[in-house]
Amino acid sequence: MFTNVPFPAIFVAMSNKKRVFSGIQPSGDLHIGNYLGAIVNWVRGQDAHDNIFCIVDLHAITVPQDPKKLKANTMELAKVLLASGIDPKKSTLFVQSERPEHSEMGWILNCFTHMGELSRMTQFKEKGGKKETTVGLFDYPVLMAGDILLYDTEEVPVGEDQKQHVEIARDIAQRLNKRVGKVVVVPEPVIKKEGARIMSLTDPTKKMSKSDQNENSYILLRDDAETIRKKFARAVTDSDNKIKFDKAKKPGISNLLNIMSVCTETPIIELEKKYADSNYGQFKTDVAECVIEMLKPIQAKLAEYDKNEDKVRKILADGAEAVAPRAKDTLQRVKKAVGLGL
Ligand code: AMP
Ligand code: TRP
Repeated sequence: MFTNVPFPAIFVAMSNKKRVFSGIQPSGDLHIGNYLGAIVNWVRGQDAHDNIFCIVDLHAITVPQDPKKLKANTMELAKVLLASGIDPKKSTLFVQSERPEHSEMGWILNCFTHMGELSRMTQFKEKGGKKETTVGLFDYPVLMAGDILLYDTEEVPVGEDQKQHVEIARDIAQRLNKRVGKVVVVPEPVIKKEGARIMSLTDPTKKMSKSDQNENSYILLRDDAETIRKKFARAVTDSDNKIKFDKAKKPGISNLLNIMSVCTETPIIELEKKYADSNYGQFKTDVAECVIEMLKPIQAKLAEYDKNEDKVRKILADGAEAVAPRAKDTLQRVKKAVGLGL
């Protein structure tokens, strides 16, 4: 996939396609928020870009993990990504820990990152700060910066919650370039607005999340049609029976409109017109059917990969090998610029 080009020719685009890198954590069952907020953007952008997608298991161990479960989650995520349409002919998919350059790059970048800027990260402020918080969790954005910078990434498609982490990757890249000469590409975050946040079905002021105690709050990608219908039928709405997008006053209906909009690729304004004379019951039934239709081909492919996990392992191993020249090149360039080794 990549050719070995010595610095500084590396900065000349090798095709006019933008290099895109993104990562996702293997954290268990995936829901439609993960799919519509993250995965779908990767899939839909595949033809237009030169893509590298990474299952970031080193990020996952920043919080305690059961080793067996972590392995199973990595396999599940790989299957979901492939079943969702990540095509190994168009994109490279690999597991972060299978490329040691990520940890090495992370260490070097640690030494170009300030405690103060990491302390300001919203996600750390929310999740960290306890006695048993790991140093890894604090350092998480630096490892992420390493992931991005290793591949001369130009664009990083992420959910709104990760924007601050891409911004710190930019700051670290600029600082490194200023201190040791231009060695890394400064990446841009790409945040897709619609679909960016899928909310809980039972409390639409909160993000849909698999850590929610109430399983009616999320739709898992492996949920069957009956479960999906039942969950949407129970989705929280309001009492004025008008299907209009108004996030502040009608968070439930707005969330359902948003879900239907992203899964059918139809603007919300058109959906509002279409459902101007419908009641909530009919609308919820239709949203459920759209989601069922969207998930049908994904679930069919998942069932195939379930029977052939070796095929998945081979795709991941090939991916790790394909990105190796680029990762090694960048790391070598950075080490040399920093003055490491002889
Ligand atoms: P997580 O496993 O929560 O780290 O999420 C994996 C990916 O899915 C990240 O890129 C998140 O931004 C995205 N994501 C998670 N939950 C949602 C949600 N409710 N709406 C939109 N995107 C989400
Ligand atoms: N931190 C991201 C998340 O939790 C995952 C991630 C790790 C990532 N490395 C990345 C995303 C590099 C984009 C680019 O969602």
